[in-house]
Amino acid sequence: MHPIPVRRLTFEIPAPGEFDPIYAARVAAVSYDLTGLGLYVALLEPFIVKSMRRVMDQITDERLREDVDRFCRQEAQHYQQHERFNAVVLAHGYPGLERRIERLAADFHHFLERKSDRFRIGFVEGFEAYTNQGALELLESGVLEHPRTDPRFGHLFRWHMLEEIEHRNVAFDLYEHLYGGNLYRARMCWIAQGHLLRFIRDCAKIMSSADVGRHGDQCQIKPLERAILALRPWRKRIRSMLPSYTPHDYRVPPSIAAIAARYSDLAESVT
Ligand SMILES: [Fe+2]
Ligand SMILES: [Fe+2]
Repeated sequence: MHPIPVRRLTFEIPAPGEFDPIYAARVAAVSYDLTGLGLYVALLEPFIVKSMRRVMDQITDERLREDVDRFCRQEAQHYQQHERFNAVVLAHGYPGLERRIERLAADFHHFLERKSDRFRIGFVEGFEAYTNQGALELLESGVLEHPRTDPRFGHLFRWHMLEEIEHRNVAFDLYEHLYGGNLYRARMCWIAQGHLLRFIRDCAKIMSSADVGRHGDQCQIKPLERAILALRPWRKRIRSMLPSYTPHDYRVPPSIAAIAARYSDLAESVT
């Protein structure tokens, strides 16, 4: 099998009436963090696919071209599944959330219309350089299989994080192939990661304040959780911007192969 397999899966989603916003290990900060990420990628990943497809003709390395194609096809599966879960989240009713999502959509529209290929590919690489480290952390944390995590969300994120790890080198290799140079890449890490983290922070604030009123204090993000959320990204952000950074150096634990085999077995098709 190709190391970047394209799996088609359809995940079970909660019925709108049974959606529990604190679905990740009963921890508000982690749950809202994941929901914000899910809302973000549903708009980011179509942008990724369009940005990568636009430069396809500039890729002179046959193997890289196939990897980029597979990368795009994996991302296309991700956002289609997240859209289904996001509809459940939005049906829960969060004043101000749809407006924030519209602002995000306008940003990506602006990037597609007004920015250069180098900006867009750098943005994709800046996002991947951060979230692929996060994907490894999340899979190793045990949160997604926690007995108090809704298994439907656990499944969705486990599959998604697995495939992020499978295609972890592609955006970096593409950036290096087309442009190279760390200074601009580091700048795009700063821009893309800030863009993601601001969106997640805004979503968490909007959702938590709406949910505290109807579900109680369990939906409050505690000060310690807030501090951890604010500090935790920095190690990954700094690492991603260093001149020595490369995703080829990631330590991928052997357990990832078992997760990959499991989702290939569950898939309706694998190509
Ligand atoms: Fe993805
Ligand atoms: Fe990705």
